[in-house]
Amino acid sequence: LLACVLTAAGGYLLGSILFGVLISKVMYNDDVRNHGSGNAGMTNVLRTYGKLPAVFTTIGDVGKSVAAVNLGRFIFDAMLSGTGAAWQNPLDPVCGAYLAAIFCMIGHSRPIFFGFKGGKGVLVGAGAALATEPLVCAVLLAIFLIEVAVTRIVSLGSIIIAALYPVGTLINLIARGANLPTILFSTICCVIMAAMVIWLHRSNIERLKNGTEYRFGQKK
Ligand code: G3P
Repeated sequence: LLACVLTAAGGYLLGSILFGVLISKVMYNDDVRNHGSGNAGMTNVLRTYGKLPAVFTTIGDVGKSVAAVNLGRFIFDAMLSGTGAAWQNPLDPVCGAYLAAIFCMIGHSRPIFFGFKGGKGVLVGAGAALATEPLVCAVLLAIFLIEVAVTRIVSLGSIIIAALYPVGTLINLIARGANLPTILFSTICCVIMAAMVIWLHRSNIERLKNGTEYRFGQKK
């Protein structure tokens, strides 16, 4: 239980560091959440300030997710992996990584340091995939880039890869021969993250249905 609490707290606090808002404050003395979609994520930074701040936001938000994931893996490895006499933990330390990723996403979307108004979790999910299943991350990134190149709509690409993320992780874990508790735990964590990302895109989904979602390269 202590391992879970430490992992969750570490993930949440790291997730609460919103690089989009920090960068807009440091570089422009502004808050990106007052512009565009009101979101704190990379897409809105790109839309509002351009490429370089968006690159910094990407590095920061993916980086904090990778840090959270590695922290969770480290805590689970250190606290749960030994051969305890009473109880043999069947879960791989990667489960700590996924738990941290969920809480990092909660922190990112409801950040304690920024008035609980944050981003939509896509880069946190990307960081989690990168640090746990790089192959899944690469395939999803390719699908995302193709989707954005074709439609110019970032949110649609985010929703599609969120939905595919648990499927990709499940296939990859089975292919890597992970044990059943690890497969179940990790896949459920990915389903939770995917559901969060899609739920956080509910205003985008409304705009997609109405045909009013923002496209890059289009005048506002
Ligand atoms: O990563 C968030 C993206 O999918 C949508 O962002 O600003 O268009 O709502 P935004």
